[in-house]
Amino acid sequence: MTIEVETSDPVAHVLECFRLRGNSEYGKEAVSQLEHALQAAYSAEQANASPQLIAACLLHDVGHLLHDLPEDAPDHDIDDQHEQLGAAWLIEHFVPEVVEPIRLHVAAKRYLCAVDSEYFAVLSPPSVQSLHLQGGPMTESQAAHFEQHPHFAEAIQLRRYDDQAKIPNLKTPSLEHYVDHLSQSLLTRTTN
Ligand SMILES: [Fe+2]
Repeated sequence: MTIEVETSDPVAHVLECFRLRGNSEYGKEAVSQLEHALQAAYSAEQANASPQLIAACLLHDVGHLLHDLPEDAPDHDIDDQHEQLGAAWLIEHFVPEVVEPIRLHVAAKRYLCAVDSEYFAVLSPPSVQSLHLQGGPMTESQAAHFEQHPHFAEAIQLRRYDDQAKIPNLKTPSLEHYVDHLSQSLLTRTTN
């Protein structure tokens, strides 16, 4: 089911995507897509991250809501490439500080697995499963190259919030609480 949302307002579109599909499972995790997004955004907010990084955390897995692959796609050795799908849509509407950490959040996992020996232990089983489909840990030279990316630091921060955002029944602000963060991250608002 591809979502048909009748609005040209990107913030309204995002809210509608979550309302229509946010209750779907987040892979095989114990939280829904919406709960996962809100928990990631809330972690960033509690750490006094910028509105753009908070928006990025909220939107980092929106690519999962934009395709029709089954939730057990990884069991069939399918990588949904949600980070690319999400970034391809978001780049039309949101500033690079939102889009680029999202595009890089899978690469950030591969990076952290390569450089942080304790990181792998915090990954959930579904995240370990998808790691293999996503190329496994980076090589030393891939990791060194990744560190040069202008949005490297934000991608790592987003990834840390992402990995924490899988706690059943955690209380967070509502989706509407993040409308301001999203509005402040729109391309036209910051380039005018
Ligand atoms: Fe995620």
